[in-house]
Amino acid sequence: MMKHSRIRRSLIACALSLVLAPLSTPSFAADPVVIKFSHVVADDTPKGKGALKFKELAEQYTNGAVKVEVYANSTLYKDKEEMEALQLGAVQMLAPSLSKFGPLGVREFEVFDLPYIFNGNEALKKVTEGVVGAEMLAKLGPKGIKGLAYWDNGFKVMSANGPIRVPDDLRGKKMRIQSSKVLEEQFREIKALPQVMAFSEVYQSLQTGVVDGTENTVSNYYTQKVHEVQKHMTLTDHGYIGYAVITNKKFWDGLPADIRTQLDKAMKDTTDYANRIAKEENDKALEAIRASGKTEVHSLSETENKAFIKALLPVHKRMESRVGAATIKSIYDATGFDPASF
Ligand code: LMR
Repeated sequence: MMKHSRIRRSLIACALSLVLAPLSTPSFAADPVVIKFSHVVADDTPKGKGALKFKELAEQYTNGAVKVEVYANSTLYKDKEEMEALQLGAVQMLAPSLSKFGPLGVREFEVFDLPYIFNGNEALKKVTEGVVGAEMLAKLGPKGIKGLAYWDNGFKVMSANGPIRVPDDLRGKKMRIQSSKVLEEQFREIKALPQVMAFSEVYQSLQTGVVDGTENTVSNYYTQKVHEVQKHMTLTDHGYIGYAVITNKKFWDGLPADIRTQLDKAMKDTTDYANRIAKEENDKALEAIRASGKTEVHSLSETENKAFIKALLPVHKRMESRVGAATIKSIYDATGFDPASF
């Protein structure tokens, strides 16, 4: 008898504890909001590190109410597919290079590809941190996309299997480019043969000779091992690669306001971080490329540099019909760039 009542008491206690358990914890956390962040470069690059920093800060600032899944190195989608995936809502965040917005119908972004338009980082910041940059991001709205920030990578180098000292060294060479009409024109201007190709295919195409050369930042070269399949690289600094961090507008606008505020804060802090480390990452990559001994790294003399500038500047005028004369002028005005001074 004693035994039965003890068992009954413990069964009741057990049942009660099950019923009361949810009440004694603060609240059941709702399912976290998942942000899939897809990109095409390695984790160990300015953008790769930026994406991981955003994950860290977004999860921390929202106390876990948001979970960010980062898919690097084209593991989820390649260049073209990721844009479509964002618009369809299959991923929530991307950071495509500014050269990749033309196919979406926002040609103005290709202004960033004009050779020599930014004379260094300070000039660039006048655009990305100013009115012109903000207006440009706003152009994404009608495409169902919200622009959140600009992240830096850096200035580009050129490479091939022969040395590049003068523009004519690229004559007849097949050069891989990103999907930008301005980049296409840039290489046509010096009689090279531009070929648009997804970033994920660059290494193999160079290795197998589908293309002869390419251009990119050194961090992208190093992390994709592109320097291992190119015998010569020249530090031309002829153009810029940076990113627009973008999200699906409907998704973003549909977030609870308090969560969006925290994510805005996470994005702001991440942007400071990503833009702070970009140059350092590229400097480190250049050191590593030099140390590898796999490619010969050339610098241009002043005269050689001038020859490149002279050969490529006509692209600005020629691309007015593509990116808009007013867009180009707005950059000149913001940075003080004067093509007539060359
Ligand atoms: C490329 O496709 O060459 C790069 O822009 C990739 C990237 O995102 O940096």
